[in-house]
Amino acid sequence: MDIAKSRIGIIGGGNMGQAILKGLSSGRPPAGLLAWDALAACRERLVREFPMVTVPENNRALVAASDIVILAVKPQVIGPVMAEIGPDLNEKQLLISIAAGVPCRRLEEHLDRPVPTIRIMPNTPALINRGISAIAAGSNAEKSHLENAQALFSCLGETVIVPESAMDMVTAVSGSGPAYVFLVIEALTDAAVGLGLARDLARKLVVETILGSTELLKSSGRHPMELKDMVTSPGGTTIAGLAELEKYGLRHAFNAALQSACQRSRELGG
Ligand SMILES: NC(=O)c1ccc[n+]([C@@H]2O[C@H](COP(=O)([O-])OP(=O)(O)OC[C@H]3O[C@@H](n4cnc5c(N)ncnc54)[C@H](OP(=O)(O)O)[C@@H]3O)[C@@H](O)[C@H]2O)c1
Repeated sequence: MDIAKSRIGIIGGGNMGQAILKGLSSGRPPAGLLAWDALAACRERLVREFPMVTVPENNRALVAASDIVILAVKPQVIGPVMAEIGPDLNEKQLLISIAAGVPCRRLEEHLDRPVPTIRIMPNTPALINRGISAIAAGSNAEKSHLENAQALFSCLGETVIVPESAMDMVTAVSGSGPAYVFLVIEALTDAAVGLGLARDLARKLVVETILGSTELLKSSGRHPMELKDMVTSPGGTTIAGLAELEKYGLRHAFNAALQSACQRSRELGG
């Protein structure tokens, strides 16, 4: 399947659906781009904001006109949507779901034929093409389907291929991860305001420190521990701050957060 020659249909025009549409519209365009959403106001917005997107009559019409169908609806809605479109899908098409916690087997239960399915976990930095999408194959998907999914989702940033058994863990790390980072930014900013800095200045210092540190980590190829040691002089300010973070259990907090998010992803999958 050549992506440039494929017609891509997206079911669900919310945050992630629109991020995918934006990414696909800005790169080398596919042969066709379709989208449908249950909400009339959302469909009107799609028509207004994405001139190259066709909004068909309903989900079934979208499936009939698509080579690749992407499910971008909430996990709770996957069952009803699959009951609606499952019988129309055939083995020449590719079905991709980005719903958190929903395994490929849950999609396959609604299929009469061995339609290849793929599960993907993107994240919200996809909105500015800086996301990371983890991609896993369902039982009928082959290497070529994974490559197509990778080519498709590279318009949203980086991609990695993982076994489906890793998807709940991936969801807890990179799917939910932006929220943890935003919480850390908010907490550091508040702490800086607590020291007496103006809020605008505090936020700028925090955001640029996080951006610069992650860029340094990525470009240097060094271990984070090594870079941490570079900032930590004996008896200095940084070691005093780090000691407090350890005392208040930062590592434990992240451990518990990821365990809990992973468990929730498993529960959503049923
Ligand atoms: N946001 C993230 O950070 C993130 C990251 C990774 C994966 N995901 C996954 O991406 C999926 C979409 O998330 P989102 O944040 O984009 O959700 P969202 O903004 O709520 O978008 C989902 C859209 O689907 C519509 N919808 C509901 N039922 C439908 C149906 N039967 N047919 C077509 N459209 C229907 C919803 O309309 P109504 O509002 O009327 O229900 C809504 O506009 C979720 O499964 C989520 O787990 C999200």
